[in-house]
Amino acid sequence: MSRPGIARLRTLARRCYATPAAAVTQPTFPGITNPKPPTTGQPLARSHAHLVRAGELTPGISAAEYESRRRRLMESLPAGSVVVCMGGTVRLVSQQIFYRFRQATDFWYLTGFDEPDAVAVLVSKPSSPRGYEYVLFVPPRTPHALQWEGDCAGVDGAVSVFGADEAFANTELPSRLPALLSHAAEVYASLPPSPSPSASSQPHPPPSRRRSSLLKLFHRDAPAGAFNWKSFDNDPPHLVLSAALASDAAKPLARVVEHLRIRKSPAELALMARAGEISARAHCQVMRFARAGGTEANLQATFEYHCALGGSERPAYVPVVASGANALVIHYTRNDCVLGQDDMVLIDAGGEYHMYASDITRTFPVAGRFSPAQRDLYTAVLNVQKDLVARCKPGEANLNELHRESCVALGRELKQIGFNLSPGDVERTLYPHFLSHHVGSDLHDCPSAERGVILSEGHVVTIEPGVYVPRDPRFPKAFHGLGVRIEDEVAVTKDGPWVLTPAPKEVAEVEAACQA
Ligand code: GLY
Ligand code: MN
Ligand code: MN
Repeated sequence: MSRPGIARLRTLARRCYATPAAAVTQPTFPGITNPKPPTTGQPLARSHAHLVRAGELTPGISAAEYESRRRRLMESLPAGSVVVCMGGTVRLVSQQIFYRFRQATDFWYLTGFDEPDAVAVLVSKPSSPRGYEYVLFVPPRTPHALQWEGDCAGVDGAVSVFGADEAFANTELPSRLPALLSHAAEVYASLPPSPSPSASSQPHPPPSRRRSSLLKLFHRDAPAGAFNWKSFDNDPPHLVLSAALASDAAKPLARVVEHLRIRKSPAELALMARAGEISARAHCQVMRFARAGGTEANLQATFEYHCALGGSERPAYVPVVASGANALVIHYTRNDCVLGQDDMVLIDAGGEYHMYASDITRTFPVAGRFSPAQRDLYTAVLNVQKDLVARCKPGEANLNELHRESCVALGRELKQIGFNLSPGDVERTLYPHFLSHHVGSDLHDCPSAERGVILSEGHVVTIEPGVYVPRDPRFPKAFHGLGVRIEDEVAVTKDGPWVLTPAPKEVAEVEAACQA
């Protein structure tokens, strides 16, 4: 696949998502009318023209791109393979209270279908026009579902809108799956979603969730041990499903889908650039808003408000908003302390935009100016971060090598500002986490990817070195209790690194944003 360089990608991102240059303004869409309630289930171009353009199946991604993903997946598998890909299910906070639904990532990547309790089956069929058969099992359109959940695609929409060759109500999965699997040479399956802790003990499902949940099919007791695809004839359907998909007979689907997902297309990069831009602006607003006596919680609220105004549907993760020595706790997410005048704030926060995550960390002084020690430590981390960003070029290095380089470089920088380091101090105490991970639809994208794989075009990785100085006499007192991390997402392009997260980073930029 020939890939455009940075300039072309930037233009594409701008053309698709023209944005006001200044801080977030409320977007308006004069002339667009939506059918209410929507008659299509999820947003489509005909119902939500402000979100989905003609030719796109989901915001920013065309129907043709989804087709190409499925085709490339099937072409990458042995002849005779069958793929069973589970969609996500609704998770419960407690009892009858549910979280907002978020589709399972691999299922989304292959289908663009945004309803819970769906399953995609792809059957290798070289003699067919598309080279495989695409079958969707979806929630049926019932009067009850229409009244409680609103309209959905249903079996007809699964074919006419989502391009399935055949579609069935998800309740038919147990009876139809055996036939679809019966000639499979290989089966690649994702495991069924695990239930929320309280889902199985829930005595009375809420009326709105009474439709058939696939969970019920998968979480009855499955027989242990190996499963033979050809021997299911006499087993009850739910046992067939549970055993088939959980046993050694099925190969994990995640690894082969992640092999595709790890290289982002130009359309995906445009979405990720927009996600990064929205979140970068929200970081600016947080720097501006922070005051001594204010709270970490209100910084989080400010960040999330500006992300939402920019079009982000949800936070990509629970943010770290750590003032002062709270920054030494790597996964600090309580975010419930008051900001001190002399504190720095380490904020690791990003919004999700049309199913693509962003991931940014910035560290800034509440007072608007770094103290000398804060500035020294910040500059040490910044120097390393920028050098490592510059290394994100195709064929240059793998993540393990970049991490080792970041440890060495941090050691060198810290010695220059007065640290007297012993072997292991950097890796074990001052910088105990890894430099990088892939980002995409999942925050820690494609976890099956080896850190030893050389960076190549289309990869998007974070570069996030940090230093966290405990109150330990081995380290200079002036730095005790300070924590700094700086994190950007970098797209690897043939023209070099493209930073997708343009939040203030240089000392002068950060101080200017704080004082704006
Ligand atoms: N925000 C989590 C991470 O940086 O990996
Ligand atoms: Mn990260
Ligand atoms: Mn992060």
